[in-house]
Amino acid sequence: MTCLASTENSGRRYLPAYFSPEAESPNQQLLPLSARGNDQDHLEVGGCDVPDLVERFGSPLYIVDELTLRTACRQYLSAWKRFYPGPAQVLFASKAWSCLALCALVAREGLGVDVVSGGELYTALAAGVDPGRIYLHGNNKSRLELEQGIESGVTIVVDNWLELETLASLGRQVTIFLRLTPGIECHTHQYIRTGHLDSKFGFDLQQLSEVCQFIRQHSHLYCRGLHAHIGSQIFELQPHQDLGEVMVQALVATREAGLPVEALNLGGGLGISYTETDDPPSIGAWVEQVAQGVIEACGRRGIPLPELLCEPGRSLVGPAGITAYRVGSRKEVPGVRTYLSVDGGMSDNPRPITYQSTYRALMANCLSAPLTQVVTVAGKHCESGDVLIAQAQLPPAVAGDILVVAGTGAYNYSMASNYNRICRPAAVLVYAGDASLILRRETYLDLVRQDLLPPHLAF
Ligand SMILES: Cc1ncc(COP(=O)(O)O)c(C=O)c1O
Repeated sequence: MTCLASTENSGRRYLPAYFSPEAESPNQQLLPLSARGNDQDHLEVGGCDVPDLVERFGSPLYIVDELTLRTACRQYLSAWKRFYPGPAQVLFASKAWSCLALCALVAREGLGVDVVSGGELYTALAAGVDPGRIYLHGNNKSRLELEQGIESGVTIVVDNWLELETLASLGRQVTIFLRLTPGIECHTHQYIRTGHLDSKFGFDLQQLSEVCQFIRQHSHLYCRGLHAHIGSQIFELQPHQDLGEVMVQALVATREAGLPVEALNLGGGLGISYTETDDPPSIGAWVEQVAQGVIEACGRRGIPLPELLCEPGRSLVGPAGITAYRVGSRKEVPGVRTYLSVDGGMSDNPRPITYQSTYRALMANCLSAPLTQVVTVAGKHCESGDVLIAQAQLPPAVAGDILVVAGTGAYNYSMASNYNRICRPAAVLVYAGDASLILRRETYLDLVRQDLLPPHLAF
């Protein structure tokens, strides 16, 4: 299509209005902080022209804005300093996007890293993260994963009796947290709600005294803290305030049961804006509320403030990421809808098909073109449900245009698959006009690397 290039088009104000609100925190914005329109009427992120990035690195392409990620890290750290007089740590929930570069980047910003598998543990260690600042989660860690955790000197967040018994039987000195199910309801998708009573994660509060008794009998298990995580993509602040009360109560009970625990990890869960109708609180407001809940609960009991940890994932890396696709085929179903297909889909972003998640898109090679069409942005997988955006307002795009989906930094790459044997995209980290490749695009060779052809089937 003909793009309406304009010499005036060099600022954030040339993005569709809902893409550029005045927001306090990155998690309240649809696009990365550095996003703007340039003189070619193209989307630019981290000082890099997005169509140029696609030309250089191919499509689909995950693009991560370093400024947005670093800003989110700093907002968490400074909010804890501001609102909590006790010691505090921020951990990156690396399940949101586990790779060497992002683990290293958050660690350089002073964050620890939470991991939920041997693979994420390996990645964080390989990225150079201090084991003293790594926390190993998971509701079904294998014996091997527990041994790897002990060997590498990380803290293990114990989820259940089997793990506790396995750690006891290993006879090795280990620092642990106990994951609890706090029984707090929050309004989010049922698959990403974890703190209510019917959850596969953690010990019920009623089991606490029995668990404490068991730990006291095994002096090599050092229980440093308690953990809870109530869910993800949460916009309400009240559940987090309530969590403070429940966890301080549990802290007192644990101490009374003979374990001098020092720390509480209150998980992550702060939501982000995927569309203009989403209205999450800022990072500062979230931290303030979490801190307040604990300060008040401790005040009521006259006890000193414990060390606090939190472990956000989505609100750190989600808003920093966008995905650029090339537009391909178009199909009009008269009176029903128009499908616009892109060269990726559910294998690079499984969230819409899994959680019915909504996203916004824009055309990165003609930003100021009028948004005259409503189309269904479909992926290229052999699955009718492979739809990235059910109703996207876009200019009249043609094959070859660059469509960008916003807010894809969390749980996209980390949940990506090779469904239909489609190669996982490359990822670049952009800052001040430089683009660093942080994940190579997979090749067909990668796809068959683990395949074996038994001799009797070979031609
Ligand atoms: C234990 C734990 N901690 C932290 C997180 C990160 O949550 P979010 O990405 O919503 O901040 C999750 C995600 O589900 C989790 O399960």
